[in-house]
Amino acid sequence: MKIKVAPSILSADFSCLEREIKKVELAGADMLHIDVMDGHFVPNITIGPVVVKYIRRVTKLPLDVHLMIENPQNFIDDFVGAGSDMLTMHIETISASSFRLQAARLKKRKIKVGISLNPDTPLSKIKDVLKYVDFVLVMSVYPGFSGQGFIPAVLPKIKQLRSIFDGDISVDGGVNDKVAGSIIKAGANILAAGSYIFGAKNTKLAIERLRNAK
Ligand code: DX5
Ligand code: ZN
Repeated sequence: MKIKVAPSILSADFSCLEREIKKVELAGADMLHIDVMDGHFVPNITIGPVVVKYIRRVTKLPLDVHLMIENPQNFIDDFVGAGSDMLTMHIETISASSFRLQAARLKKRKIKVGISLNPDTPLSKIKDVLKYVDFVLVMSVYPGFSGQGFIPAVLPKIKQLRSIFDGDISVDGGVNDKVAGSIIKAGANILAAGSYIFGAKNTKLAIERLRNAK
């Protein structure tokens, strides 16, 4: 599987977001990871649909929108309208039956559907929805903030998921060149990274290091 890199703009300088986005686009990013937080599901507040709408105007990169919010079903239409290409909901925030309904609606609109799970949430919780998703976003930190350390205990979970799931597996949180190799080896093929990429002096090299990590 081709390894894709998804810079998370949560670590970007928001006073010049367009320039930051262009920087990672030129450096070879495959998609743009956008972290949406509501101050309820996670202890932080970040980006809403209005920001996604303006990001859509300045980049051709697919927008990978990660919803860390309660009642995600109430906001999906807004994020689709704003131009999202991929939408991820957390299994901790939605029932399997409601998720299935939303996934069907999103697929009709050609949006890629993802399910995410926190580091402590077992794979058994997403088993019932796996057949409705294009990708799984495995959290390798407790969601809420950039710049936290990768939790290696999620590696066996990635490996186990790969043995039962053919779609894309994305890993999000604490991803850097030191841990990327083990993440890829475990079977993931999308690496979301914030502080490692936006904190790098050479953005292109940072992205290449993640993509080619052994
Ligand atoms: C965490 C977010 C991540 C985060 C990644 O709640 O979902 O996408 O921004 O940032 P780093 O790579 O710095 O952990
Ligand atoms: Zn994220």
